[in-house]
Amino acid sequence: MDIFEAIEKRHSYREKYRNDPVPEEHLRRIVTAGIVAPSGGNGQTTEFVVVTEPATRGALAEIMGSIMCRTAPAIIVCVTEHREIYPGMAFEIEDCSAAVENMLLAITGLGYASVWLDGVLRNENRASRIAQLLKIPDTRTVRVILPVGVPLAPGTRKEKLAFDKRAWFNSYGG
Ligand SMILES: Cc1cc2nc3c(=O)[nH]c(=O)nc-3n(C[C@H](O)[C@H](O)[C@H](O)COP(=O)(O)O)c2cc1C
Repeated sequence: MDIFEAIEKRHSYREKYRNDPVPEEHLRRIVTAGIVAPSGGNGQTTEFVVVTEPATRGALAEIMGSIMCRTAPAIIVCVTEHREIYPGMAFEIEDCSAAVENMLLAITGLGYASVWLDGVLRNENRASRIAQLLKIPDTRTVRVILPVGVPLAPGTRKEKLAFDKRAWFNSYGG
């Protein structure tokens, strides 16, 4: 799929997935898209745990509590490391966001669907519970979860404001 088509087609998918597994080769391509993403000072502060094994996936879905996580055949857990790249400067949030968007585009390009799950991790101590489940060291933070699978429903794309409501050439507001 052309990159601009993937950008257009990507949308947050919050419904059931089909049972079809995501082949490891595809999961590697998706995560590699995250690995090659830009990062501040090339600090590469994001790491990834790909959960496919049914018992661990089930336990993770139980913590997440959503239909997407309960039915997704694979779940990518994005983990960040807070590290100063330059004096007084750390970029792990931005690094992780760049990796996540690259992965969302790769997921879309390969015909799968996902949703960027972050806000939900901040409730009910979910991030720490997931860290414990996956043996993630306490120097790291569970930041984003991406369920991955073949969508069962078509999903819906949200309306975005028109170009001239959000972007201008040469000065703010045109
Ligand atoms: C930083 C961030 C956090 C998000 N957290 C959640 C979340 O916890 N749960 C969820 O269902 N969607 C979450 N989303 C997805 C947004 O709700 C979604 O991107 C937005 O509604 C626009 O829809 P679209 O992705 O289909 O364009 C998050 C997105 C971002 C960028």
